Amino acid sequence: MIEISDIRTQLETARQKGILEFEQTDSPQTLYEKRTKYLGKKGEVKAVLRGLGALSPEERPQIGQLANEVADALEAAYQNRLAQLKSSESELRLTKDEVDITLPGTWTRRGAYHPLMRTQYEIEELFYSMGYDIAEGPEIESDYYNFEALNFPPDHPARDMQDTFFTKSGHVLRTHTSPVQIHYMETHKPPLRMIAPGRVYRCDSDITHSPMFTQIEGLVVDKNITFCDLKGTLEFLIHKFFSPDTITRFRPSYFPFTEPSAEVDIAVTDSSGHVTGWLEVLGCGMVNPAVFEAVGYDPERFTGFAFGLGIERFAMLKYGIRDIRLFYENDIRMLKQFR
Ligand code: DAH
Repeated sequence: MIEISDIRTQLETARQKGILEFEQTDSPQTLYEKRTKYLGKKGEVKAVLRGLGALSPEERPQIGQLANEVADALEAAYQNRLAQLKSSESELRLTKDEVDITLPGTWTRRGAYHPLMRTQYEIEELFYSMGYDIAEGPEIESDYYNFEALNFPPDHPARDMQDTFFTKSGHVLRTHTSPVQIHYMETHKPPLRMIAPGRVYRCDSDITHSPMFTQIEGLVVDKNITFCDLKGTLEFLIHKFFSPDTITRFRPSYFPFTEPSAEVDIAVTDSSGHVTGWLEVLGCGMVNPAVFEAVGYDPERFTGFAFGLGIERFAMLKYGIRDIRLFYENDIRMLKQFR
């Protein structure tokens, strides 16, 4: 015979045990399992109610009410604990994923332009800012473009096997960027302003000469172009590239494709500013009328100036590099200095 007091005790025990168990549970998953143990269909509270049939009709509602109270209390305790667990879980995640924004960032390696490209781009930019076009030409040339159209006589020493690389088909690896002048004039009409950077080849090798090196050619053609334009342009280049107080000297020289021709030197000075020597940096001159004739320009209407510079030479002087081979070895210790 089941007494109503026994049922009451069972319910009260379930309430106390349940609340205690919920409080001692540390994971939401286990907590849910505990909830089922007490409040599920086969849980302890329902089990008690199954014994209800043994009670008198007056007793049943009393127990029913108590069972509801216990179920509510357990549900509240469950919700309460669940909320606690969730908030401490998210707190935990916050501390675990915490980022110390005062720590230094992760360092990524940065690349850099090769000193030759950097020098080339710098010079290109200077001329681009003055409205020059940037042109290119082939590295394998015919004798005509590399020599003949540039007014080299047939017996000129530059055509010698010693200086020039010849291909089996009788072409040459261009020995300078000047043939780009010819290609450019064949496809453009004056007025024109252009520079042409690129690789050139000569059978020559020591600490200041490499069998492959790079040049920038320049050409301006218009009516009334004078030596003053040439001088002003090249002084602008040198003052911008090296330093505004670099001293220049235009020294008479000879090139078959210019007349008159000059070489430009920059002064080497000691600590008190006295000129102690000169370094040749480029060749230039007024375009020889014979060159205009080769491309079909009228030398009576147009004049022009041209120049050619070695990019290695400019870079060596600017960055104090003594050995030209350093440019081609790709030694990371050298290249890193240009980052
Ligand atoms: N082509 C010459 C060389 O390779 C450089 C040069 C000199 C180019 C005078 C020119 C010039 O356009 O006018 O040494």
